[in-house]
Amino acid sequence: MAEEMRLLLEHADKIDPRQAEDYIKVGGYKGLEKARQMNRKDLIQEVKSSGLRGRGGAGFNAGMKWSFVPPAPVKYVVCNLDEGEPGTYKDRIICEKNAQALLEGMAICGTAIESKQGYIYCRGEYPFVVELLNKAIQSAKAVGALGDFDIEVRMGAGAYVCGEETALIESIEGHRGEPRFKPPFPGVAGLWGVPTVVNNVETFAALPYILTKGAEWYASIGAPKYPGTKVLTLTGDVNNPTYFEVPTNYLLKDVIYKLGGGIKNGKKFKAVQVGGTSGAFIPEQNLNTSIDFDSMGAIGAALGSGAVLVLDETRDIVDIVTRISKFFEHESCGKCNPCREGTFRCREIMEKINAGRATEADINNILLLAKVMKRAALCGLGQAAPIPITSTIEHFGHEYRRKLLQYA
Ligand SMILES: Cc1cc2nc3c(=O)[nH]c(=O)nc-3n(C[C@H](O)[C@H](O)[C@H](O)COP(=O)(O)O)c2cc1C
Ligand code: SF4
Repeated sequence: MAEEMRLLLEHADKIDPRQAEDYIKVGGYKGLEKARQMNRKDLIQEVKSSGLRGRGGAGFNAGMKWSFVPPAPVKYVVCNLDEGEPGTYKDRIICEKNAQALLEGMAICGTAIESKQGYIYCRGEYPFVVELLNKAIQSAKAVGALGDFDIEVRMGAGAYVCGEETALIESIEGHRGEPRFKPPFPGVAGLWGVPTVVNNVETFAALPYILTKGAEWYASIGAPKYPGTKVLTLTGDVNNPTYFEVPTNYLLKDVIYKLGGGIKNGKKFKAVQVGGTSGAFIPEQNLNTSIDFDSMGAIGAALGSGAVLVLDETRDIVDIVTRISKFFEHESCGKCNPCREGTFRCREIMEKINAGRATEADINNILLLAKVMKRAALCGLGQAAPIPITSTIEHFGHEYRRKLLQYA
């Protein structure tokens, strides 16, 4: 299987994402029309039965999330376009190629939960995307495509933690971007304390296709428990580093060798990191895994954002993981001890190992620290920060041991 399956990106570069009319000409806004004619419960059931699960990392069933929203006079729909995970740019691509599908998906969600107001939280490094989205919203409003549903764009200031849904909400409210304690979940008490659905760009952008083509059709694509397509961004030591949209039962080895054209400069494969900086490093023996949420989990990895970073045989794993540990120390918001202190200590020990000053006891300490962080950190940042370390100690332990003091 070498072909992509383009659904969200079917009309990429053939329509202007700013122009609602262009999108309408290729069948756009038909899903919203259908949603508006449906009973709210049936609409949520349709999304539930499609099997659509969040594309922002946690993989939660979208229709199920919406069904938890209680009645309230005001509710919000929030789109997570923070996309702070290094190597990830799929949400930017979806906006640049098909922004109207995102707007339509948000309005479908608004119809389902009875919300009249949506916000798109865009990462600070994407000012051109903010401009594009504002034009797209203007155009959709001008032709009346969104009805009485309004969408505003809010811009972040470049903090990775603001991709976490409650930190994102704090940031929109004008506070420092720090995660909240959960529960209550945003579905019950989110933006300004009212019920709020937060979904990823890719999750929203899939909705128009589910409504027009049917839940059953969508559920039949890709992996049965994580159906649909996935937009991946392929980076690193491959011949064709770009983005792709594939069915979720597509194999990781085919992403690298078929779509990616194999390893650059005739070198050999060493490892692939899936899901962004907090993802696990996967060795060659696990490449026969499909890029769906559960299959990735089964090999101790995570699909995460869908970023795929390939490393060739010459790459120094310990050096790369040391740099990743610096990233997490920098991005930790400092609200909870296990992460604030843990990311600092991880970086400290990784630097010691990388500099050839460590012993086996340091490896044992960092593994223990990783366990504590996974269990005790308040949000996913601190819980996942040690994963690159633990996965590489598991699969590439010999590279660590080569750098220890007694072998130096
Ligand atoms: C540190 C951290 C960063 C995150 N960054 C993002 C992000 O950039 N985009 C995103 O959609 N979800 C991100 N998430 C996940 C969100 O908290 C949330 O689960 C997601 O936006 C829900 O949308 P979905 O159900 O459609 O996936 C992040 C989570 C954590 C803990
Ligand atoms: S885990 Fe890290 S980023 Fe998350 S709340 Fe704690 S200190 Fe902040």
